[in-house]
Order: sequence, then C-alpha cells, then structure tokens
Amino acid sequence: MMLFLSLLLLVGSPWTTLGQQDTRTIMQFLNDQGLATLSGFLVGTGLNQILDDPNAPATTLFAPTEDAWTKLPSNVLIGLATNSTALKEVLLGHLIDQVVLAQYVRDKDSKVNYNGDTLNFKVYPNRVKTVEGATLVGTDHSLVNGVVHMIDDVLLPVDTNIGEYVAQHETDFKDLFGLLVLGRLFGPLETTGPYTLFAPVDTAFEAIRDTVTALINNRTALADVLKYHVVPDTYWSVGLTNGMKLPTLNGDELTISVGLGGVQVDNANVIQADIHTSNGVIHVIDTVVTPGP
Ligand SMILES: *[C@@H]1O[C@H](CO)[C@@H](O)[C@H](O)[C@H]1NC(C)=O
Ligand SMILES: *[C@@H]1O[C@H](CO)[C@@H](O)[C@H](O)[C@H]1NC(C)=O
Repeated sequence: MMLFLSLLLLVGSPWTTLGQQDTRTIMQFLNDQGLATLSGFLVGTGLNQILDDPNAPATTLFAPTEDAWTKLPSNVLIGLATNSTALKEVLLGHLIDQVVLAQYVRDKDSKVNYNGDTLNFKVYPNRVKTVEGATLVGTDHSLVNGVVHMIDDVLLPVDTNIGEYVAQHETDFKDLFGLLVLGRLFGPLETTGPYTLFAPVDTAFEAIRDTVTALINNRTALADVLKYHVVPDTYWSVGLTNGMKLPTLNGDELTISVGLGGVQVDNANVIQADIHTSNGVIHVIDTVVTPGP
C-alpha cells in the first residue's frame, strides 16, 4: 500500500525528487534567488500570475541570470523595458508547457516554446549543455508548478539565417558571399541546417588573392574549400575544446585549439564568436582554412 501510494506520488509529480520536495512556486523561487530583473519583467507583463499559481499546469522556465540581462546591448534592454509587447514575446520564448529536466536533455533535442519557436539543445563532450546557445548554469530547480533552469544569456528571437546574415553584412563578407554563390553553397546555408559556419572576413580572402582567382576558375575546388568551413551541427564556442576535431561538409576535419590567445580553427583565429542565426551559428575567422595535409 505504501509503495503504491509512493508510486502514485511519483507519477503525479514527475519533477519531485523523493525526499526533497520544494513547495515554492516558480515566482517565489525567482524572488528568493534575487532575480530582480526577470521577476520585475514577469510582473510587468502579467506572466507572474501563472508562475505564482501552485495549481497551474507544469511549466519549464529558462531563467536568465542578472548578469545575462546586463550583457544585453543597452538599446536592446531599453527596447524591451519600454515595449511590453516585445518584452512579453521575449519572456514567453523562455517558457515551455512541460517539464524538461536537464539530466534527460540529450544532444540535438528540441522543444517548442510558448511563441511556437523551436529551442534547440546541445550537449557537448565537455558536458556543457546549451539551449539556443545559452549555457545551462547549475542544476535544475524543481518547484511545485514546474522547473527552473538558470541560463547565462537572454534568449532573443532570431529570424535571420546563416545565408541572410552573410548577405546582409557586406562590409565584412562581400567576398565570402560572392564565393558561396559561385560555389553553390549559399542556397544550403539559407534553406537547410543546422550548421556552424566559420566565416572568413574579406581581408582573409584578399591575403590569398591568387589562390582565390584559381578557385574561381575551378568551381569543384572552390566548393571543396568552402565546404571545409561548414560543420553540419551547431557548435557554440562553450562546446569547443582543445584538440577537438569537427567533421565538415567536404569530409575533412577541422582541428580546434583553445588557449590563452582564444579559439583557433586550424591556423585561423576566431575573431568574433557565437553569432546566433535561425539555422545555426557563425564564428568569424581571420584566415581562410584549407583542407588536406
Ligand atoms: C513593440 O514591439 C512589437 C513586437 O516586437 C513591435 O511590433 C512594435 O512595433 C513595437 N512598438 C514600438 C512602439 O516600438
Ligand atoms: C579542379 O579541382 C579539383 C579538386 O581540387 C581537381 O581534382 C581537378 O583536377 C581540378 N580541375 C582542373 C581543371 O584543374
């Protein structure tokens, strides 16, 4: 009988760990943690009501830390603080209508948030877990009406894909854009994914002008070099570790080095990391990398 009751309890509240049931609501937890910015925004948009209701359907909240809000560019933060429509959309993007426990999150899992957008999870060999590039910090907090995961970034909606991002940033990527079109790789970067693109800036192509000319005259070789810059998976920089090999679209592997000087991919330096797009991530590099010995 006791066993039966315990099983019932377990089934009824799948998020409770036996013996350490937390009876606080999500809202009470946020207040206790001193997450003033998030709490204030939830109150400002009325979303606090459901998150403070112990009988509300179970919800998962990815809760940006205070530092995460501070990291936002000030114009973005002010834009949210002064536009409750935009703010509510961003906050709903952090909520899922079911319990998601970090220990059961698998690499490449995805869940749909309250905006109907997909949240993509990654679990890297160094055990770091990310949701849309934001790192899951610490452990889950199971509350009476759901679960909270702390994250180190605010999740902002993205509607630009990798191809569009390259096309729209012609001050850096004029050469890359043109070559991707000639190499017939622009289409895939606009329509499929997920990908990680290591994107050389224009000066990287200018440094090897003669090679670029030769590549333009041999589209097979051009496509080969470009495909070597694309990994068919999402590698946010927190998941990159020293010595890691990343298989690329051309079949060869890129080698990652992580040191005091930052992150390198083969002989190129990553000069801007983690540009978030709707079909993956872009890391900007200062040198064109080439496959082969
Ligand atoms: C507020 O945000 C919404 C949604 O992002 C946007 O459509 C609207 O134009 C914004 N309003 C103002 C006054 O900026
Ligand atoms: C073009 O490049 C490919 C791949 O590198 C090579 O196999 C082929 O021989 C090249 N073609 C010409 C005409 O140089």
